[in-house]
Amino acid sequence: KAKLGDDLHLRPLARTDLQRNHLAVLSVLTSTPNLTPAQYSQAFDTLRSCPNTYYTVVIVAKATDSIVGVGSIFMEQKFTRNLGRVGHIEDIAVDKNVQGRKLGLRVIEALTGISESMGCYKTILNCSDHNIPFYEKCGFEKKENEMARYH
Ligand code: ACO
Repeated sequence: KAKLGDDLHLRPLARTDLQRNHLAVLSVLTSTPNLTPAQYSQAFDTLRSCPNTYYTVVIVAKATDSIVGVGSIFMEQKFTRNLGRVGHIEDIAVDKNVQGRKLGLRVIEALTGISESMGCYKTILNCSDHNIPFYEKCGFEKKENEMARYH
């Protein structure tokens, strides 16, 4: 298992993490909105209102109390597979200044751990070709194709 340095802490997302750079870290993935603290906590509460479904973990730099890594997973309830569940990983991001220090790997381990403990029979995600080696290092293998239709 990857180890976190003593200067870092991994924990669930908190309702007040807007002030700890959460959206700035996500901006390595895509454009992020300028939310007010009220809008942010409302979105947080919306996710929380679906019990046992949405989980986000963050890695926090203790010295600055700011987020440097983040990742999410949500649980899909199926009728097939004897009412099985699938974990879907989304929005993995590590601050550019600390990429390559195994924080991404640590986030993925935490999320797959949640998925397993929730009884999911598999954990899946979509990624670009250049991230395939990273996810292979995390124990994933390439399966089938992603299809998308934007609205
Ligand atoms: N190509 C080859 N190997 C890679 C790559 C890559 N692009 N990225 C990481 N690795 C390897 C590392 O070298 C390391 O290998 P090692 O164990 O042999 O040393 C291993 O994968 C683990 O890497 P980490 O240090 O944990 O990677 P990092 O902390 O930099 O996080 C991440 C990887 C999340 C992809 C980060 O670079 C990032 O935030 N990129 C921009 C945003 C992004 O693309 N996010 C993923 C989108 S897909 C999704 O969200 C489902």
